[in-house]
Amino acid sequence: MKYEFASLMKDFEGYAIGKMLRYLSDPEIISFAGGLPSDELFPVDLIQKAVEKSIREDSARVLQYSPIPGEKDLIQAVIDYLKTDNISIGPENILITTSGQHGLDLVGRAFLDPQDLIVCDLPTFGGALAAFELEDAKYIAKDIEDDGSDIAGLDKEIETSIKRGQTPKFIYVVPDFQNPSGITMSLKKRYTLLEMAKKYEIPIVEDSPYRELRYRGEQIPSIYSLDNNNGNVIGLYTFSKILCPGIRVGFNIGPPDVIKKFAFIKGANILNTPKLNQDICRTFLTEHNLKAHFQKATTYYDAKLHFFLDAMEENFPADMGVKWTKPEGGLFLWITTPEEINTLDLFYMAIEEKIAFVPGEVCYPEGFRRYNTMRINFSYPTKEQILEGVKRLKTVIQKYKSQKLKT
Ligand SMILES: Cc1ncc(COP(=O)(O)O)c(C=O)c1O
Repeated sequence: MKYEFASLMKDFEGYAIGKMLRYLSDPEIISFAGGLPSDELFPVDLIQKAVEKSIREDSARVLQYSPIPGEKDLIQAVIDYLKTDNISIGPENILITTSGQHGLDLVGRAFLDPQDLIVCDLPTFGGALAAFELEDAKYIAKDIEDDGSDIAGLDKEIETSIKRGQTPKFIYVVPDFQNPSGITMSLKKRYTLLEMAKKYEIPIVEDSPYRELRYRGEQIPSIYSLDNNNGNVIGLYTFSKILCPGIRVGFNIGPPDVIKKFAFIKGANILNTPKLNQDICRTFLTEHNLKAHFQKATTYYDAKLHFFLDAMEENFPADMGVKWTKPEGGLFLWITTPEEINTLDLFYMAIEEKIAFVPGEVCYPEGFRRYNTMRINFSYPTKEQILEGVKRLKTVIQKYKSQKLKT
């Protein structure tokens, strides 16, 4: 049988990072490539008790189909949880999703026609690019700065595009410890971005998986909270990085008409989020000591991050021309190598040396690619692996440079 794929699917190869991870089956490889939270932080006892209780007390409902928008008690728990982050919303503003990636998929399906424009940073989250590629999206994009989006640069391009007759559909940002760069948007820029969004009437999609994972410095208000639930921002959240990714639960927040549309789409694509998994999240939010949980997680990740930064400092003297970000939270940092290094070529060489990272080019939309960057996950490897892995990274960069000089 010759299957004729849809034209948009013919060249579609999925989430590019997923493809890279296929190379990592060798257990000797030290991987800085994944985006995994540490399994040492999963509250396994709490999850086990929540599962047992749900099945014991409510098996008929737990094993049944459940409401598309999500379980009422989880929605209420999320409302209370968000209050602690100065977000005041009602159930009409929330849809429970089957994780952050599903939340992104709903955004893409709800707003994008083929060739529609999205505004984003360079680099940006590869999973978002994959979700929006399903809708054949195009981009207005500018290099991210140390304090977040290049708003002035984006503003100019948006204005030009509107003059030409095309208004972008939304602005996609990850303001807190961005995946992949680790960069956080300043408060000033959050206000400016919101003003720009209002000026052009282009909504902001604020993706916030890492917000609770701040290790240093003051927490900065979310753009959603700055907008006071006035309908200019859609917030995407997931339990993946604060609880565990295996249960696949998240939530989208926004204006009621948008949330209603998301629910219609969810009904058509995955129907409902498993109640059992929602019960775990509700138990986590209402019965777990969240303060202690986040304290443990941030202390754990902070130690890893600073261990990593110290190893970089030690192995990469300034004359090597390698630069890296110094995030205040999240799970990633971003390395920029000298221009002559193509990090996809370097990746294949690195695999030989048993070290892996994500070549940065998968974090750029087509037409905007940069080839001398890489994303590093510091949260999953052990300290020993970090020490050894950074050394291997240095070796492979030196090897690449000397081979390049020979050719
Ligand atoms: C910025 C961003 N958005 C969304 C997601 C997807 O989250 P989930 O694992 O819940 O699908 C991730 C995961 O790495 C992410 O980094």
